[in-house]
Amino acid sequence: MALNALDRHLALIGFMGAGKTTIAPEIAARLGRRSVEADRTIEGRVQLKIGEFFARRGETEFRVVEAALLRDLLDSGEPAVLDLGGGVLKTTSAREALARGAFTVALAVDADTAWTRVTGTDRPLAADESKFRRLHDERTPLYEAAADAVVRSGDVDGILLAAAGVHHEPGSLDRLGELVPGEGPVALVADEHVLGLYGDRARAALGDRLASTHPLPRGEAAKRLGEVERLWHELTIDRDGTVVALGGGTTTDVAGFAAATYLRGVAWVAVPTTLVGQVDAAIGGKTGVDTAVGKNLAGAFHWPARVIVDDTLLATLPEQERRNGEAERLKTELLAGHPLDPRGAAAYKCALCLRDPNDRGVRRWLNLGHTFGHALEAASGFELAHGEAVALGLLAALRLSGRDTTPVEAALDPRPVAVDRELAWSALQRDKKRAGGAINLVLLGADGPTVEPRPPDEVRAALDSLIR
Ligand SMILES: NC(=O)c1ccc[n+]([C@@H]2O[C@H](COP(=O)([O-])OP(=O)(O)OC[C@H]3O[C@@H](n4cnc5c(N)ncnc54)[C@H](O)[C@@H]3O)[C@@H](O)[C@H]2O)c1
Ligand SMILES: [Zn+2]
Repeated sequence: MALNALDRHLALIGFMGAGKTTIAPEIAARLGRRSVEADRTIEGRVQLKIGEFFARRGETEFRVVEAALLRDLLDSGEPAVLDLGGGVLKTTSAREALARGAFTVALAVDADTAWTRVTGTDRPLAADESKFRRLHDERTPLYEAAADAVVRSGDVDGILLAAAGVHHEPGSLDRLGELVPGEGPVALVADEHVLGLYGDRARAALGDRLASTHPLPRGEAAKRLGEVERLWHELTIDRDGTVVALGGGTTTDVAGFAAATYLRGVAWVAVPTTLVGQVDAAIGGKTGVDTAVGKNLAGAFHWPARVIVDDTLLATLPEQERRNGEAERLKTELLAGHPLDPRGAAAYKCALCLRDPNDRGVRRWLNLGHTFGHALEAASGFELAHGEAVALGLLAALRLSGRDTTPVEAALDPRPVAVDRELAWSALQRDKKRAGGAINLVLLGADGPTVEPRPPDEVRAALDSLIR
């Protein structure tokens, strides 16, 4: 079973009327991939409409052509989004090709909705309603069994989350044992405070798979190489084991980095327990620690085997931590250009990370507001909360983009902070996003986010306006 669509085709399967043909190009655009509609490609090959092909040469021959096409598609080229015909799973070789080359998502649709959508179309199998319904009930379990994930018809965010390996389900903490992929042993690495709150439930859910438990200090103090080294010494799992990280972004960063390096890399699963973690930090495989020189300066890209998001765990989250997450959610909403709930913000990040896992292009958009934010945090000696700093940074980014700042003011009400202006300015200039004299910033252009060089005096003035 595939775990995600990273560097693999994303295949959409489902019954007639599940909406694959509408949604596939939309998903492809979000992932920067091409979208291939199998039925249209077959029509091109055989120079006949599908209906005519069925009528003249029968379904059996159609399936042979279809399976051959699928093998060609799956074994070739750049990962794409494949919109596959409703009967594709009937052929064994097609099923095998899918399992080998794609992450497969089944779009779930009920019989009533599906019939309403297809009735009156020229689809060969949609002529008779009772036959159609029988076929629906017969095939639905086949789709679900063959798929790596099942998503409700029309749920773009759900498909993007699944494609990145994110499982979003209230109460999923209690299903950890089944949701952690594989059958091997599990090392639970958890924020010590979170362990007190949710450790018993996590351990009970992991049952016999739990090999060991490793508490981490709360907060940023955990993001030290010393903690990673301790984990290297303490871990006993072998290569078929999995590190499960339970906690906020600091925990998933450290545990993920330990997993990336222990035995040269073992699988890991993130179970984020903060809003920051659930919309941002646990997604996309950036792991690491802080060094004496600065934050996040050593680490690895190591995509989690799964991210398990149980938003009921946020019930115990302190208000300040919620605000930190709210700043990241709003950042993502500004990038997307339309309202996003936390699940939508997570899905947006999933798409950017699948497009650009190594942070060379579009993934850098996620730094919106962060060049200013990091400078303020550094100038405050990291006293200023990350969320407060990002909120101020978003203000500056909106101003430099010539945009209205009301959305940030209304949601986060950022107030200028008292930090040393020179310290903040020198911290900003040390920031790695520098190119020649100008400073590269993520801004919002007319067609969406851009990375643009801006003259230093303009950037300095924007930074100064955040300081009182
Ligand atoms: N890897 C990435 O892509 C990425 C992205 C964004 C941020 N980050 C990193 O994430 C870190 C920040 O993460 P964070 O904001 O989640 O902070 P955090 O992990 O330090 O958690 C914040 C606090 O909340 C507590 N806590 C966690 N879950 C709780 C719960 N359910 N109930 C009550 N208390 C709870 C923790 O004990 C801690 O004191 C930073 O180090 C940042 O660099 C990484
Ligand atoms: Zn951030």
